[in-house]
Amino acid sequence: MEALALERKAEQNRELKERIAQLKKERNAIILAHYYQRDEIQEVADFRGDSFLLAQKAAQTDADVIVFCGVHFMGESAKILAPNKTVIIPDERAGCPMADMVNVEGLKALKSRHPNAKVVTYINSSAEIKAETDICCTSANAVKVIQSVDADEIIWVPDKNLGDYVSKFTDKKMIIWEGYCNTHDMLTVKDVMEMKAQHPNAQFVVHPECRPEVVKLGDFVGSTTAIIKYCKESDCQEFIVGTEDGTGFQLRKDSPDKTFHFATKFLVCPNMKVNNLKKVVKCLETMQPQIYVPPQVAEKARLSLERMLQVK
Ligand code: 13P
Ligand code: SF4
Repeated sequence: MEALALERKAEQNRELKERIAQLKKERNAIILAHYYQRDEIQEVADFRGDSFLLAQKAAQTDADVIVFCGVHFMGESAKILAPNKTVIIPDERAGCPMADMVNVEGLKALKSRHPNAKVVTYINSSAEIKAETDICCTSANAVKVIQSVDADEIIWVPDKNLGDYVSKFTDKKMIIWEGYCNTHDMLTVKDVMEMKAQHPNAQFVVHPECRPEVVKLGDFVGSTTAIIKYCKESDCQEFIVGTEDGTGFQLRKDSPDKTFHFATKFLVCPNMKVNNLKKVVKCLETMQPQIYVPPQVAEKARLSLERMLQVK
């Protein structure tokens, strides 16, 4: 962008941020933003975080309104955990393709074929799927959750890559659904090897939503928060990052002197980028779109999320 256009954009963002601050006060609202959101959205958030931290914040807040800047299942989880709050999202088209890869009929059929299995569901799923679930997990607590489950057989939905990673930490039999994250699954061994050759002093940090053969190359494997913490605390000065590029905002904030190379320019979740500051203003002004979960679904889904929050 030219200097003038950049200046104009910065001025526009300043005005939008002021309006957001004013509306937040009027509505007694908080803004929760996932680490994959655009930088300017992360800048106005009361809490930035991964799926786990944001679910915790939603469950704990005293605010009347939660503006959830992430994708649809995250807003839904917030509403399920905080049923008396109004949960609004900047754009209801921000979905998660992985969450849509599993449906209730398919899951029920699998359950009937494995009647002794417990269902562990990644939080990247719909409320209806969570309602058919024994316990949810996020990438931050997946191993602990699996180890906490009192069953020898586990039905795991929907992420096959995270399922493969977690299965290395348990002797339980895992029946793994064939879903995946379109964004993380794009990263190949070739991409990583090329980056490693270009940056021989860098460590490779990788999210377990990536393919197993890519995860295997990781110097560190973890959820978005775990990656951020590792890079901050590590003595290493240079990293190749195998997760969504929005994570760069927090990585650079925490460690301005370190260098972060994203493993490919394709590690961008288009769904996460649908939100922008204008839409945050609009949803606070109109209080739309609101998340609604039918009470009978929410009640069952809440149990699976609350069980997850209790795992230590
Ligand atoms: P975490 O927030 O658990 O790191 O998961 C990444 C993700 O893909 C969220 O949609
Ligand atoms: Fe879904 Fe992947 Fe985007 Fe996360 S990064 S919202 S899992 S598509």
